[in-house]
Amino acid sequence: MKFLGPISLILCAFISVNCVEALNILGIFPHAGKSHFFVFGKYLRELAARGHNVTVVSYFPLDKPIKNYYDISLAGKTKIVGGVFPFKRSYWSIIQVSWYLVTSGTESCSLLLSDKNVQTLWKDNSHFDVMVTEQFNSDCSLGLAYKLGLPVVGINSHVVVPWHYSRFGIPYNPSFVTFQFLDGGTKPTFYQRLERTIFNAYFNLLYKYFCQAYDQNTLAKYFNDIPPLEDLAREIKFLLQYSTFTLTGSTLLPANVIEVNGYHVEEAKPLPKDILTFIEESEHGVIYISFGSILKAATTPQDKVEEILAVLSKLPQRVLWKWDEKSLPGNPKNIYLSNWFPQNDILAHPKVLAFYSHCGLLGTTEAIHHGVPVVGMPIFGDQPSNANFIEESGLGVQIQVADLNTENLLKKFKTILDPEFRSKVKSLSKAWRDRPVSAMDSAVFWTEFAARYRNFTFTSPAATVPAYQYYALDILSLFFVIILTFILVTIKVLKSLLSPKKIKYLRELAARGHNVTVVSHFPLNKPIKNYYDISLTGKTKILESVFPIERSYWTIIQSSWFLVTSGRDSCSVLLSDKNVQNIWKDNSHFDVMVTEQFNSDCSLGLAYKLGLPVVGINSHVIMPWHYSRFGIPYNPSFVTFHFLEGGTKPTFYQRFERTIFNAYFNLIYKYFCQAYDQNTLAKYFDDIPPLEDLAREIKFLLQYTSFILTGSTLLPANVIEVNGYHVEEPKPLPKFIEESEHGVIYISFGSMVKAATTSKNIIEEIVAAVSKLPQRVLWKWEGTLPGNPKNIHLSKWFPQNDILAHPKVLAFYSHCGLLGTTEAIHHGVPVVGMPIFGDQPANAKFIEESGLGVQIQVADLNRENLLKKFKTILDPEFRSKVKSLSKAWRDRPVSAMDSAVFWTEFAARYRNFTFTSPAATVPAYQYYALDILSLFFVIILTFILITIKILKSLLSPKKILKNKKKKQ
Ligand SMILES: *[C@@H]1O[C@H](CO)[C@@H](O)[C@H](O)[C@H]1NC(C)=O
Ligand SMILES: *[C@@H]1O[C@H](CO)[C@@H](O)[C@H](O)[C@H]1NC(C)=O
Ligand SMILES: *[C@@H]1O[C@H](CO)[C@@H](O)[C@H](O)[C@H]1NC(C)=O
Ligand SMILES: *[C@@H]1O[C@H](CO)[C@@H](O)[C@H](O)[C@H]1NC(C)=O
Repeated sequence: MKFLGPISLILCAFISVNCVEALNILGIFPHAGKSHFFVFGKYLRELAARGHNVTVVSYFPLDKPIKNYYDISLAGKTKIVGGVFPFKRSYWSIIQVSWYLVTSGTESCSLLLSDKNVQTLWKDNSHFDVMVTEQFNSDCSLGLAYKLGLPVVGINSHVVVPWHYSRFGIPYNPSFVTFQFLDGGTKPTFYQRLERTIFNAYFNLLYKYFCQAYDQNTLAKYFNDIPPLEDLAREIKFLLQYSTFTLTGSTLLPANVIEVNGYHVEEAKPLPKDILTFIEESEHGVIYISFGSILKAATTPQDKVEEILAVLSKLPQRVLWKWDEKSLPGNPKNIYLSNWFPQNDILAHPKVLAFYSHCGLLGTTEAIHHGVPVVGMPIFGDQPSNANFIEESGLGVQIQVADLNTENLLKKFKTILDPEFRSKVKSLSKAWRDRPVSAMDSAVFWTEFAARYRNFTFTSPAATVPAYQYYALDILSLFFVIILTFILVTIKVLKSLLSPKKIKYLRELAARGHNVTVVSHFPLNKPIKNYYDISLTGKTKILESVFPIERSYWTIIQSSWFLVTSGRDSCSVLLSDKNVQNIWKDNSHFDVMVTEQFNSDCSLGLAYKLGLPVVGINSHVIMPWHYSRFGIPYNPSFVTFHFLEGGTKPTFYQRFERTIFNAYFNLIYKYFCQAYDQNTLAKYFDDIPPLEDLAREIKFLLQYTSFILTGSTLLPANVIEVNGYHVEEPKPLPKFIEESEHGVIYISFGSMVKAATTSKNIIEEIVAAVSKLPQRVLWKWEGTLPGNPKNIHLSKWFPQNDILAHPKVLAFYSHCGLLGTTEAIHHGVPVVGMPIFGDQPANAKFIEESGLGVQIQVADLNRENLLKKFKTILDPEFRSKVKSLSKAWRDRPVSAMDSAVFWTEFAARYRNFTFTSPAATVPAYQYYALDILSLFFVIILTFILITIKILKSLLSPKKILKNKKKKQ
């Protein structure tokens, strides 16, 4: 391996992009649950099949050996999970489950570490590249990974368990996130939210003190330096999460939590003869019933079975029922009993019309894969939340055990046996299977990625921010003591419009055969096939205004008014255009609208009018007023703010600034831009719903970021990161660079910073700094420089991308526009960032935190500081880190362009589906749990008052006197 490694890497570089180095993968699966390992086994075998050397510690060794797959078997050490659960639901059964989780988790840890073969792993100092381990009820393996120095990929076979939200920084908000063990979906009742809040606290405490703490002790018996397991958990590189937004809804996930639901589903095999005949000979199709393996006939009440039988006798369908007894009361002829069925193959059969299920995630996944409608009857564990996914996605309906009677159940079956219901399920199934990369490819890709870029951190800052900051307690208390003063602002009007950055994506859509009609200020220079321009050129001045090199609150306020007024203008320009009007007057037919998500929602009104699904697209980080529409939490304690400094670890003052400016931008957008656009639209159409409501229906946002550059933010599944598709293949360059002995520094402050408005002092300091360096300099500048230094080549325009692509270009001194930054990370050129306005401060922070470069503030700019910054990034080690960052950034399962095109087509294909995250639609009082908090407050207050009352009466002087008298 030692020799093969580098060779295969070199080969890879020549042969294909998909080629990967064979890895030594250690799989640790200490939980003895068969249905869990059923999922993981498939993935582990696939890793082996793709040439990786896989060593697996589990209770489920292979029956017959396969290549590259080595078992370390724990079989026989513990009882395989197969306990018997009663056919009913209650809080008591939840408590039982919780203790079962805790005890089996701690037990699995001791069994794992006491195993002799497992011990050789650390005693022999075996070499591995990455550990894959289950994320369920024990963190024991994380201690082992630490000991072996391995990056960890977590994997599960269910929704995120309650104690895992915080480690990945996923917000658990009871007002719209289902709770594994309880009823209620994304629109819970007050009581359900209360239940969730209490049980969530219960499970988290229980896990922490009765499972994790025990595991920590168990580990301490073998190793003496394991950090707190919860800290190790926060370093997990990726979680391969067994969900998919088409089934489980669009939850908020950081980039390192990857949805891979579905890879366990096998190709359907031919059915055994008798089952096949039974199905094929049915005149009206078949219903398949299975309540899993943990539910036994012995513990199922007779009356429930009879209710079910009564319903089945009223339906014309035949029935296959997985049941562990030989017979049923009355021995109905249309029912085929067996204690085992090839479930997946049965669900794949077109004559199977319905699945009556206990809602295990695997069966549910098979049902959605094959498009079989489900009647879900959840019993314990994660089944209640799966049942809600089934209902909310439209895969089926649910019935609670408590409501099970003939009438109710019959109604449920009638609902899902309806042909229209069925056809909707078929199209849901199509959407579920329709992915840019298969679940398995994705799971394998991110596992390899974790090994390849093990030195990078993918943890969302949401996972590491202190709680008091997360909840902004300090800022709230500050607000409590200060009084806000309002600043009156004089309005300065600047004109602008759409930026040309999206054009590449639109051209690509045309190139791929779609008929693209583009309304913009930037018509093509020469026509291309399938691309039709409706030009707005000349209607407004293209944004080429002049900003001074300086930063202040005043420039932020100026930009805010610029955004507002230009947004309003663009709306009137758009709607007053005759050619645009023809679009709605002619009733033109389109399948999907793609529109910029920036400073106007005008086009959403038009989309509504034309009845089109909308794909949003942008070329910068999310604007402050767009967070809420996609349900993305804007939390100043770890999310950078577009217009301000400070990254994922802001100071108190920065958080304060962000809080104020965030409120400011949201208010002015709402009242001075959106409200105006609404009026403008009302001049043309008389029934446009509130634009903010339309915004919440946007199908997808093609977001111009990448977690490698901007960090792992919390995004719902319908916000897709596609940073980088604008970068073109580099073209050849003039000689100046080649002839440089020590390489070249490239300087550009974009097109909005002009010599005329830049103070002479700044220029002098820059010239002084770069003349101390041996590198030659290319400077995009339309002015002259003091002393006309020979090593500086000035020009009004440079082919920036081609320059950054040149291996002799060692550094980029930039104003941190997102496009230049993207080109820099693409080509791996270290950056000195000097942000000036707009989103540049945020981008500068991304540059610094990702390791792409360093930043310098205009206010700190002098020759010593600048020189120091250049020295830092010109260091070869810094450069090599940037090169590997660039590699990671480019390393994706699908290219940014393919992804952008895919989700655009997807929006058109499944326009009837809603992909909006429930976080976007939940009422604010629920989001912040104000009602629940007030309830707790009332309870606590009552308790205190009663206590005081009792104490008072006990300690009242009269009583004390009385008592004394009695004693005397
Ligand atoms: C693969 O893993 C097995 C078991 O851990 C080990 O014995 C073997 O040396 C490994 N092979 C390679 C090529 O690394
Ligand atoms: C990761 O970091 C270690 C120590 O900092 C270094 O030795 C190693 O080369 C780095 N690996 C990669 C792939 O960058
Ligand atoms: C393509 O779009 C153009 C402009 O909107 C339209 O004139 C043409 O009929 C469309 N072609 C097809 C095949 O839909
Ligand atoms: C979407 O819904 C409309 C009306 O409900 C229906 O006419 C249309 O067939 C549906 N389209 C698809 C692709 O399911």
